[in-house]
Amino acid sequence: MKTVVFHPDRDQNCIEQAAAILRRGGLLGIPTETVYGLGANGLNEEAVAAIFTAKGRPQDNPLILHVPDETWLDGCCRDVPMAAYELAERFWTGPLTMIIPRRETVPLRTTGGLDTVGVRCPDHPLTRAIIRAAGVPVAAPSGNTSGRPSPTAAAHMLEDMDGKIDAIVDGGSCAVGVESTIIDLTVTPARLLRPGGVTLEQLRSVLGEVSVDRAVTGKMEDGERPRAPGMKYRHYAPIAPVTAVTGRPACSAAYICANLEPGEGVICFDEYAPLFAGHTVHTLGASDDPCAHARHIFEALRGFDATSVTAIYAQCPDEHGLGLAVGNRLKKAAGFHVVHAPELPVMIGFTGPTGAGKTTALHVLERLGGIVVDCDALYAQMVESDEPLRSAISEAFGDVFDGTRLNREKLGRIVFSDTAALERLNRIVYAHLSRELLHRIGASGAKAVGIDAINLFESGLASLCDRTVGLLAPVQMRIERIMARDGIDREHARMRVDAQKDEAFYRAHCTDILVNDAAMQRSFEEKAEKLFSRIMQEIEEERR
Ligand code: TXA
Ligand code: MG
Repeated sequence: MKTVVFHPDRDQNCIEQAAAILRRGGLLGIPTETVYGLGANGLNEEAVAAIFTAKGRPQDNPLILHVPDETWLDGCCRDVPMAAYELAERFWTGPLTMIIPRRETVPLRTTGGLDTVGVRCPDHPLTRAIIRAAGVPVAAPSGNTSGRPSPTAAAHMLEDMDGKIDAIVDGGSCAVGVESTIIDLTVTPARLLRPGGVTLEQLRSVLGEVSVDRAVTGKMEDGERPRAPGMKYRHYAPIAPVTAVTGRPACSAAYICANLEPGEGVICFDEYAPLFAGHTVHTLGASDDPCAHARHIFEALRGFDATSVTAIYAQCPDEHGLGLAVGNRLKKAAGFHVVHAPELPVMIGFTGPTGAGKTTALHVLERLGGIVVDCDALYAQMVESDEPLRSAISEAFGDVFDGTRLNREKLGRIVFSDTAALERLNRIVYAHLSRELLHRIGASGAKAVGIDAINLFESGLASLCDRTVGLLAPVQMRIERIMARDGIDREHARMRVDAQKDEAFYRAHCTDILVNDAAMQRSFEEKAEKLFSRIMQEIEEERR
């Protein structure tokens, strides 16, 4: 069978042609706001049977009926409860499927033998127009091969269904990105069977009490029957095994960074991506943007299958709002192989230009019970002794080592004339350095850690820090200090100062600024101590 792709903006009559396919019992890929669906006439047993065949879906896994508005409810269901109309009023058109007693007109094949039926009204005008034109409710599971991640773009659906269905309507990429929320209205209290685009909190605001099916957050025991039959299957799974890592985003990122082996892939929030340089990475959006996580999760899971990654670690959002749905998909993709990342010590990043008094400030932090990691020193050590870093450098830049010693001149000649090469070197170094640094922090058992890094932001290390402190000082004072410290003349000290980032960079990026303009070292120490004590107290409170 040749699968036709309809482009609504180019193909006139696309709605009519699509509706005709449904009416004659064919299979049609339909866009919705959640994921693409594999649609057929939901009242036609043979058409419905073809859906199961195309997907390779177990026969007992019921399909959802798609309708263009709530007036169709009565045609598909009996004893429609008031709550259904209240929910429709509030959340339709939109990502909510309601389970209601089935009318006999709906074949058992559609409902997988159940006496109930799931109904939803998708928020995609094209699909609603097609259903209206077809004049029948459209049964549509997600348009993936059974077990694979759901398709959120027409191209994803074609990957799975090309040659198996009559046509697919390309309605753009899906705005929500995870499947609809499923609420069972045949039990009291109503029960959430699958979290999705409408959140549990939103449902409770309309229904009051809502219970949550065990299958949402945990793995089904053998022989246990979930209320939504589909929830028992391994699902959304890439070829490589997945580990879902929960915990605060900085903690899950740190856990992954410390445990990741060469050849393994990562799904992470945007800000942590630099920590995983050298690995196949798919990002979900910023950690505080749950809508982006929902939009990107399936594409991320799907993306690894074109690579040779041997395992995948995924940062898992917490369970509030949309996070419940995204976390559910990730945990299912992981076959509920979930690790909870341990809490990190208080992490304070330090950065700033030379001569601002960083060393003094770090001593203050040590006196307050913290340990300090100097990233420059760590790099110098690692480049002589850390085999994974050394071979990554050799692999990228050829043999730049004389025995154990790095030939800095040779490497310098390669990277300083070529910004792309320098960038590549930095990425390699940052990723290896972060990993080693996290191992050391873990082994130290320290309660607070100061990370001293010139490239605190570029390296991605800032993303692991609770606070980032920029240490600044007036230029004249810095010049005097550099002259005294390094025994160089004013001109050279000035050149060094000029070569560094200016104050504005630190003021724009750091969470806290500490200015060292005191004439007496003692009063600077007092100022630093006050700031660090306050920061540590704040962080402890935030984490509680
Ligand atoms: O967002 C969505 O809901 C997408 C788009 C295409 O609309 N559809 C979708 O369908 O996700 P599907 O078949 O991939 O997932 C439907 C889920 C399955 O877990 C199924 O077991 C459950 O809904 N389900 C369907 N009818 C049910 C019923 N009567 N009782 C309990 N669970 C039901
Ligand atoms: Mg599905």
